Amino acid sequence: MILLGVNVDHIATLRQARYRDESITFGKFVEPDPARVAWLSEEAGADGITMHVREDRRHVQVEDVQRYQEKMKTRLNLEVSLASEMVELALSLRPESVCLVPENRKEVTTEGGLDILSNMGRAREAVEAFTDAGIPTSMFIDPNPKQLEASAQIGSPWVELHTGSFARAWYHESEREKELMILRKGMDLGVSLGLRVNAGHGINYDNVEGAKQLQKVYEFNIGHSIVSRSITHGFKEAVATMRHRLNH
Ligand code: PXP
Repeated sequence: MILLGVNVDHIATLRQARYRDESITFGKFVEPDPARVAWLSEEAGADGITMHVREDRRHVQVEDVQRYQEKMKTRLNLEVSLASEMVELALSLRPESVCLVPENRKEVTTEGGLDILSNMGRAREAVEAFTDAGIPTSMFIDPNPKQLEASAQIGSPWVELHTGSFARAWYHESEREKELMILRKGMDLGVSLGLRVNAGHGINYDNVEGAKQLQKVYEFNIGHSIVSRSITHGFKEAVATMRHRLNH
């Protein structure tokens, strides 16, 4: 069985678009609340929740993580960058796992995989610190053999393969198979290196048909498409409720 980790970062992005500096709004008065959506995801069958606390705190706030943890039913996979203050923060929040991701100020969301080869020293130190604390670490990397081998070399027990290129290729039939093959090779290599292989980025309700062929993938981490579908499917109710409240 392939597991589903739900990423709620985009919920926080939507909240921040209106209520950036008002801590009074956490979980009390405004929607959408990432912690509440995480609990709803668990009720709906999510196997785990992913939150990314970015260095610039542009979406998920530390308070969101802590509020979610108070009534957590599954497990928290916390994404952070390799910056030492973020590693310290992740250690203090004690998630069930950590995924190390690259951060770039200009990107709207995480765009590329982490370059372990150019960051071997820092990545190894981070993995050691998390291992000492009993927290398994994952490296969010492109399905590139050198990155997979470097991840195994620094002692990371897990990797998360970046499925962004596959997701983009899905709508061009000539490229679909090629990208799926790259992912399949990455998955097989990861498993043969003894790594647990997760995957994610850009998986949606169409391309999941292809993604699920990667049967050795342990867990898919999915955010944007689930958040998007919830908006489309919940919009009629939201408009009707507001219309009603205006007039009663
Ligand atoms: N995995 C990682 C490491 C991510 O940073 C993200 C969000 O960018 C995802 C998975 C989920 O991607 P998406 O929101 O496109 O489903």
